[in-house]
Amino acid sequence: MTRAVYVNGAYRPYADAAVHVEDRGFQFADAVYEVIEVKARALVDATRHLDRLATSLAALSIPAPMSNAAWRLVIAETVRRNRVADGLVYLQVSRGAHPRDFLFPPAGTPPTVVCLARSIPQAKRAARAARGISVQTAPDIRWHRSNIKTVMLLPASLAKEAAKAAGADDAWFVDADGHVTEGASSNAWIVDREGRLVTRALGPALLPGITRRTLLDLLAREGIALVERPFTVAEAQTAREAFTTSATSLVMPVVAIDGRSIANGEPGTLTLRLRTLFHEVAEHTPLS
Ligand code: PDD
Repeated sequence: MTRAVYVNGAYRPYADAAVHVEDRGFQFADAVYEVIEVKARALVDATRHLDRLATSLAALSIPAPMSNAAWRLVIAETVRRNRVADGLVYLQVSRGAHPRDFLFPPAGTPPTVVCLARSIPQAKRAARAARGISVQTAPDIRWHRSNIKTVMLLPASLAKEAAKAAGADDAWFVDADGHVTEGASSNAWIVDREGRLVTRALGPALLPGITRRTLLDLLAREGIALVERPFTVAEAQTAREAFTTSATSLVMPVVAIDGRSIANGEPGTLTLRLRTLFHEVAEHTPLS
């Protein structure tokens, strides 16, 4: 249950937490966001998430509403007020509210800032990982700056809805060349026939995931070979293993793509090992 939400400097009861009808986020998707895992009352990889938030804001010339130190205070207080031990923190910053105009509002218009925290049932998440998820592919119809974490998430929403209608758990985007760009809300990975991990190299087509980044640290520590290159849907379907990474799903086994089982249709052993080890390399900032 969400009790209190930070909105523009104040903690509001959930039912009253609101932003203006002429907010740029509402009218133009002119806003960026972050999702940070909370695990055992600690923030996971907060430094990298807050750095990426600053990068997203700078990419769109939205002034930073506060310092990273101030963000940490707001996050800690929001988590405390909502009694979250395991779950997530959601941050959103828009360019602010102003009478509708495609041009940016005048300099000095304060950005709109929201922070909310929510518990996630851990048993449900573990059960999903033990089972693995099925994904359905969808054409990547997003804009050419998917490396910026904006709230322009309609293509992801449509792709996930289509996946659900087809009986799949999640969606992967595929570019015009038939290569997987990333998941609708995650990065996409496979384990190739030689046991190497394969994921697409960073660029404008995909989000530089923080879970992806931290997993690279884990691979280096474990001496697991990595190749950063695009892969096709057919290659993923015939891979040894496949999985996604995100702050909410961590390392999530993928057991079927477009109705075709991967290997024996069970979560991969390397995937599950990486999931188990992930928090050994991630940064943990205790909140209380
Ligand atoms: N989504 N790619 C996309 C398109 C995403 O939306 C996300 C995260 C990721 C993974 O990034 P990270 O490892 O930093 O979570 C990749 C969040 C969780 C969401 O929208 O809920």
